[in-house]
Amino acid sequence: MEAMRFSTWVFLFLFVGPEAIEASKLFEAPVFVFGDSTVDVGTNNFLLVSQEIKANFLYNGIDYPYSDPTGRFSNGYNIADQIVRLLSNKRSPPAFLSLVNHTSSFKRKILQGVNFASGGSGILDGTGGGYNNNMSLGKQIQQFVTVHSNITELRGPEETADMLSKSLFLISVGSNDILDYLHFNGSHSPPNFLTAIHSTYHDHLKSLYDLGARKFGIISVPPIGCCPLLRQYNFSGGCLEEANEYAQSFYNATEDILKQLSLELPGMTYSLGNLYEMTTIVIEDQYAFGLKNTDTPCCGSALYQCNQTASLCSNRDEYLFWDWVHPTQFASRLVALTLYGSSTRFVTPMNFSRLAGVDV
Ligand SMILES: *[C@@H]1O[C@H](CO)[C@@H](O)[C@H](O)[C@H]1NC(C)=O
Ligand SMILES: *[C@@H]1O[C@H](CO)[C@@H](O)[C@H](O)[C@H]1NC(C)=O
Ligand SMILES: *[C@@H]1O[C@H](CO)[C@@H](O)[C@H](O)[C@H]1NC(C)=O
Ligand SMILES: *[C@@H]1O[C@H](CO)[C@@H](O)[C@H](O)[C@H]1NC(C)=O
Ligand SMILES: *[C@@H]1O[C@H](CO)[C@@H](O)[C@H](O)[C@H]1NC(C)=O
Ligand SMILES: *[C@@H]1O[C@H](CO)[C@@H](O)[C@H](O)[C@H]1NC(C)=O
Ligand SMILES: *[C@@H]1O[C@H](CO)[C@@H](O)[C@H](O)[C@H]1NC(C)=O
Ligand SMILES: *[C@@H]1O[C@H](CO)[C@@H](O)[C@H](O)[C@H]1NC(C)=O
Repeated sequence: MEAMRFSTWVFLFLFVGPEAIEASKLFEAPVFVFGDSTVDVGTNNFLLVSQEIKANFLYNGIDYPYSDPTGRFSNGYNIADQIVRLLSNKRSPPAFLSLVNHTSSFKRKILQGVNFASGGSGILDGTGGGYNNNMSLGKQIQQFVTVHSNITELRGPEETADMLSKSLFLISVGSNDILDYLHFNGSHSPPNFLTAIHSTYHDHLKSLYDLGARKFGIISVPPIGCCPLLRQYNFSGGCLEEANEYAQSFYNATEDILKQLSLELPGMTYSLGNLYEMTTIVIEDQYAFGLKNTDTPCCGSALYQCNQTASLCSNRDEYLFWDWVHPTQFASRLVALTLYGSSTRFVTPMNFSRLAGVDV
């Protein structure tokens, strides 16, 4: 594991305890990743989507090995990468669309896990339509149905069920549904939007269970009203409260769904990471986490996407935001550490290492 920075240790003392990350086992089973740009590792490179939801150009990836702009919405590794690294000391799984046309290696690689996440997508099928994104959570699950059939063909139904029951299903989604709703459908009555989210998310998680998923690692929506893009709509420069209220309601809805499903479905377990709570704490107490800027982006501005002619900060590990909406590699690492080993204040009813069965 790479050397940890001093500020990371401060963080661990506050929320994890330094002993927690020492003597842990490694997670051996595959990881399947679903969701949006917070965990996209290159899906959108293969799609005809708007430029705003692509990231396969510099300065994205500037701190990734070989400064490679892989399509991650980050200066380096994203949340999926960091979680998988902590759990298994491996690279996070590749994008489904990067594997699907390489028939010879496809079968071997899908046994290690697959990433279906697509920047701009959401829980509702219409979300991301404004950016020409058509890769909703439902569509991603349809791709997993294909992978499921491919694994079954290779290993038979019993071994497949056994493997999937041990696998981690990592899902980070919901922000784009709220953004789209506020942008396009703000006049509709809020209860209908939240009801639609609730029932659709419920049904999607149930579909994954029916396909064999048992361990769900779910990441909720951050205080999206505090990202640079939305702060510009608050004339005082503060966070956009309306967006944050939806983010909190979304957390409550997600917790409700997961509690319900875990009662109904035998063997279903989950960890729900409260990204709202952890990000709020970091913004309120930035210096304790080694950060010096939590309101403007390192690359680009609140008005412009990061690109190679935009301004770029040099002290990237002191910024919360990489670009107008996405966290830096450093912030993603803080999130992953919290999900991995924190107390129930930030991740409930158990942390990700307990969920994965690698806690000590
Ligand atoms: C895979 O190949 C098919 C047929 O050539 C093509 O239509 C499709 O766009 C390719 N998909 C990807 C993700 O490259
Ligand atoms: C807006 O609302 C309409 C009707 O309720 C719905 O069909 C559409 O998908 C919504 N669009 C977005 C972007 O949420
Ligand atoms: C989105 O995908 C669905 C099938 O999953 C297809 O019917 C629809 O035409 C697609 N829409 C766009 C805009 O590509
Ligand atoms: C994976 O499964 C799909 C659907 O069953 C099938 O069309 C495809 O050929 C399979 N891919 C491989 C590499 O076996
Ligand atoms: C703008 O930010 C301030 C705090 O800085 C907050 O009190 C206010 O409610 C916010 N306004 C909106 C419209 O979200
Ligand atoms: C979410 O739930 C908590 C406690 O369960 C409650 O205090 C809070 O008001 C709820 N927030 C929203 C926005 O529904
Ligand atoms: C790159 O960003 C700069 C400043 O943020 C902006 O003026 C320019 O239009 C962007 N270039 C492209 C190709 O989007
Ligand atoms: C995770 O939670 C368990 C208790 O639920 C705790 O014993 C453990 O120390 C936590 N952290 C890690 C890294 O295992």
